[in-house]
Amino acid sequence: MSIDARQLLSMLEESKSVSGSVLAAHFGVTRAAIWKQIESLRSHGAPIGVRAGKGYSLSSPVELLDADLIRAALPSRPDARLPGIEVCWQVDSTSSQLARRVAGGCRAPQACFAEIQTAGRGRRGRSWHSTLGGGLAFSVLWQFEGSLSALAGFSLVIGIGVVRALRESGYADAGLKWPNDVQVRGRKLAGILVELGGDSLGPCHAIAGVGMNLRLGVAAGEAIDQAWIDLASARPGPVPERNLLAARLLCRLQEVVDEFGNTGFSSFKTEFAQYDVLAGQPIRVSTARGFEDGVANGVDDTGALRVSTKDGERVVDSGEVSVRIQPEAGA
Ligand code: BTN
Repeated sequence: MSIDARQLLSMLEESKSVSGSVLAAHFGVTRAAIWKQIESLRSHGAPIGVRAGKGYSLSSPVELLDADLIRAALPSRPDARLPGIEVCWQVDSTSSQLARRVAGGCRAPQACFAEIQTAGRGRRGRSWHSTLGGGLAFSVLWQFEGSLSALAGFSLVIGIGVVRALRESGYADAGLKWPNDVQVRGRKLAGILVELGGDSLGPCHAIAGVGMNLRLGVAAGEAIDQAWIDLASARPGPVPERNLLAARLLCRLQEVVDEFGNTGFSSFKTEFAQYDVLAGQPIRVSTARGFEDGVANGVDDTGALRVSTKDGERVVDSGEVSVRIQPEAGA
């Protein structure tokens, strides 16, 4: 017999311990095999505590993702065009999974969620780590008949969809740091990676990957090299149910993508300005060639960042650029 890791995790509770012998009997394996599997779950960040003589329990709640629960939480309006949903236990990267779906001929909007990503990717060649059950990692694929150039501003629009879902969930101070980092009080709550492909003249596709911290835990947080926050600490009260939040995110993302298909980025400019945490701030824009200081001045009609510098206004494309707020001189 082998151990189904998802089932094993779903058998653990916060309020009481389950002994290794009970789990071993359930799966028809040895207690050592259970221990090995528990260690593997813990290595992916699952909050499992071990008490000598008692067994295993959860140190914080874990609600596993379930495609049926996500679907059940989606609106049932017949006109609601929503992505198909796939939930993986473990995958290299949900974005890579969808890239394979495209290569296999998938044409409809499709979402892929994963409990574990073994090679999660971030922007600018970084990797993205999330903890098992303590975050959301998913990607959504859309196909477009038009050219790639018609997708200017698309990645900012994805950020707007994520912020709409968060504000609807009670995170009123969720904002966007250009181009599409989701922040609360200056700390990163979620990252977005948009990858475009296909024919530059069309048809083309976009895969939007979102990684969000729900309950990150101290150990995982220590490995992150920038200021971060999770939903658990962003406001008092319970963290939204994962499946419900996943459904809200899918709804809002499909909503903004439909709107973007009709109007392009221009109709989102005002809303982006409401969420723009950089507006009016002294910033440093860094590229592979060096850096330039200035003041962030919102975005133009294509979603490019406008920066007032000592040499006049610069317009910065999202590409491989990093933007940081600069402390005021003398502050
Ligand atoms: C960033 O802030 O650098 C972007 C992070 C994007 C991470 C998500 S997690 C789901 C999807 N799959 C990936 O491999 N990356 C994105």
